[in-house]
Amino acid sequence: MEENLAKKRLYSAVQPTNALTIGNYIGAINNMVALQDEYDCTYAIANMHAITVRQQPAQLRANTLSVLALYLACGLDPQKCTLYVQSHVPCHAELAWVLNTFTYVGEMERMTQFKDKSAKHADNINMGLMDYPVLMAADILLYKADVVPVGIDQRQHLEICRDIAVRFNNVYSPTFTVPEGIYPKVGAKIADLSDPAKKMSKSSENPAGTIFMNDGRDAIIKKFRRAVTDSDGEVRYDPENKPGISNLLSIYTVFTGKSVAQAEAEFAGRGYGDFKSAVAETVADALAPVQAEQARLLADKGYLDSVLAEGARRAYKTASSTLAKVYRKIGFYQL
Ligand code: TRP
Repeated sequence: MEENLAKKRLYSAVQPTNALTIGNYIGAINNMVALQDEYDCTYAIANMHAITVRQQPAQLRANTLSVLALYLACGLDPQKCTLYVQSHVPCHAELAWVLNTFTYVGEMERMTQFKDKSAKHADNINMGLMDYPVLMAADILLYKADVVPVGIDQRQHLEICRDIAVRFNNVYSPTFTVPEGIYPKVGAKIADLSDPAKKMSKSSENPAGTIFMNDGRDAIIKKFRRAVTDSDGEVRYDPENKPGISNLLSIYTVFTGKSVAQAEAEFAGRGYGDFKSAVAETVADALAPVQAEQARLLADKGYLDSVLAEGARRAYKTASSTLAKVYRKIGFYQL
């Protein structure tokens, strides 16, 4: 499959850090699979972003394949979309350097995620951490993305990407496509089971509130059983007053395809215990085949490598043509 001119271009990426959670699945992967027919999709495994926080080399390497295998197991089709590893396409670092000269230090210092991560990793506030949004802008702009599906937490990064693109286009001439963010509605933020005020995060200090995509049945059931709820005993969607139950309802409806009203009716007059068990069983049943397929794929490294090699080839083709255009516009002498 080469460039499809009829379809809009979509770009997104995930960092190969930690195990992914059902929050990632509901908020991102699910969406990526749903979008692959409608858009010309490119999905990166963002290992260059990952190293802005110290990583174990062996872990980073292993997670790269494990994310790929998970994506494929969830239904991403390498015939339909481009799946590649960010560091396999050198244009990302190259464009990021150019874009750095269109980005102000002050605006990077004000980024919410930079401030959060600086607080969390106070011993390693490296330049890459501050530059993270610029590298992300380079990712998106290289592929002339029209749309970028991301979680709400990435909205500020997408906005700065748009600002940088417009700034460059104004100084030179229209060069970059200015991307639109698309944000998931349902499950935009699946909450932590033990603290429904917090987002379920793969980097949470508290694995009891987080369902990982590779959690076994027993762990899943145990975690749901301990999920924080409330004392009124009614299974009703009310995120304001009943954040725990509403969160479980969101999870349940995503995995069953039922509406909130259907789910509420199903559990009317039944206790929270019943409801939690049903959610747990549903999630465990849904994850089991995905986990089996992921394991099967991980045993076939030859196949995974071939997917990444083809992905890198296609990605490079688009990225290098954008980069050449940028180099021309800024006056880099070309041979
Ligand atoms: N920063 C994103 C995240 O942590 C990952 C990412 C890197 C990304 N490059 C991107 C997402 C480009 C969208 C587009 O979720």
